[in-house]
Amino acid sequence: MKIEHGQIYIEDVPVSDLAHLYGTPTYVYEENRIRENFRRALNAFRKYYPDFHFFYAIKCNNNLAIANILRQEGAGIDAASVNEILLAKQLGLGGENVMFSGNFLSDEDIRQGLESGVIFNLDDISLLPRVLQKGLPELLCFRVNPGYGKSEVGDFVTNAGPKAKFGIHPDQVMDAFRMAKDAGIRRFGVHMMPGSCICDADYFRFITELLMDIIGKVAQTLHIDIDFIDLGGGLGIPYHHEDKPLDIDEAARLVAETFKAKIAQYGLKPPRLGMEPARYFVGDAGWLIGTVHAIKDSYTRIVGTDISMNTLARPAMYGAYHHIYVNGREDEPRKPVGLCGQVCENTDYWVKERPLPERISVGDLVVVENAGAYGYGMSYPYNGRLRPAEVLVNGKEHWLIRDREVFEDMIRNVHVPPHLQA
Ligand SMILES: Cc1ncc(COP(=O)(O)O)c(C=O)c1O
Repeated sequence: MKIEHGQIYIEDVPVSDLAHLYGTPTYVYEENRIRENFRRALNAFRKYYPDFHFFYAIKCNNNLAIANILRQEGAGIDAASVNEILLAKQLGLGGENVMFSGNFLSDEDIRQGLESGVIFNLDDISLLPRVLQKGLPELLCFRVNPGYGKSEVGDFVTNAGPKAKFGIHPDQVMDAFRMAKDAGIRRFGVHMMPGSCICDADYFRFITELLMDIIGKVAQTLHIDIDFIDLGGGLGIPYHHEDKPLDIDEAARLVAETFKAKIAQYGLKPPRLGMEPARYFVGDAGWLIGTVHAIKDSYTRIVGTDISMNTLARPAMYGAYHHIYVNGREDEPRKPVGLCGQVCENTDYWVKERPLPERISVGDLVVVENAGAYGYGMSYPYNGRLRPAEVLVNGKEHWLIRDREVFEDMIRNVHVPPHLQA
């Protein structure tokens, strides 16, 4: 994104052109930024540990155009559900390039997960007998809850530790691997996902040490080799402009240093190392463009836009902060105002007070920053306000990569019994 003569450009395309062509609200993604983000991270980790691999956690943005960019760059896919395994298939990815990290799986999830032939990542020891009843995977991974979790988004997004629903308790990890070994499984992986949006490099050292101490003892005791270790996602991006970005090189250096020391300490055959980030690749490459439709002067001044809590759920869901730009007015004096969407919920009043350009007016375009991750992917239709469009930009070129939903989409899967029909 850049601002020239007051006009906001996404790559080289003015947001006013994008709004005119595709309407608002619309998510817009910068292809080059996604590629840069991926390469920066991959180069950093491979510099210190060459046998390193990324899975892209497709839940954060499941548009196939976006996922194909990351596939071209060499990412595998982290799938949270069978449907996400099917998305990976659409990208031509399967086998050990896809990791199935579902939780609280149904028998049907287990059957389809096994049948798909991707890496099965088990979230709970109780699932193991059910998996073994249906088949013997050649390679099995366990998701460990190492007893510690951290999130710079807030407690809602802490994915490990005593209050999280994910992963296997450290006291059960030995039993899980033993049961799997006794059942005849010969290749193993281990996984954790303790943090979300972390910009502190030392955190990644700390969690690597935590997991390696758990798995090192298991591998030593059971005389098993660990094929790969996946440290989860959590590579952070700054949402507030005053926050410091993650020093990715430092994070990679600390992780690799700790990893190698622990391999030596426990006498392990060096495993492949991996992570499955999402936000770091696409978060700051995505923008959400909306239009100001009305301004109300009541108890306070409230700017009403077409970006509602169902278009961008994070502020209403987590109290998350997103920086907001106003096209053509960034250099103007500012005044605190509120900002809301059009949905009939007061949580849709998602900015209670923010200094925005004083002369913000009906028809202005607002551009929301860091909207590439958990933006469209968490959007939902509500109040008849349907999901927005998605557009990809590369230089001066742009493509519609998902249609805006229309009324027909709203009633497509609805069935009215004959006695109720109008
Ligand atoms: C299992 C798993 N892996 C990876 C990710 C991606 O996390 P992030 O976007 O913080 O990198 C998530 C996000 O929720 C997740 O649940």
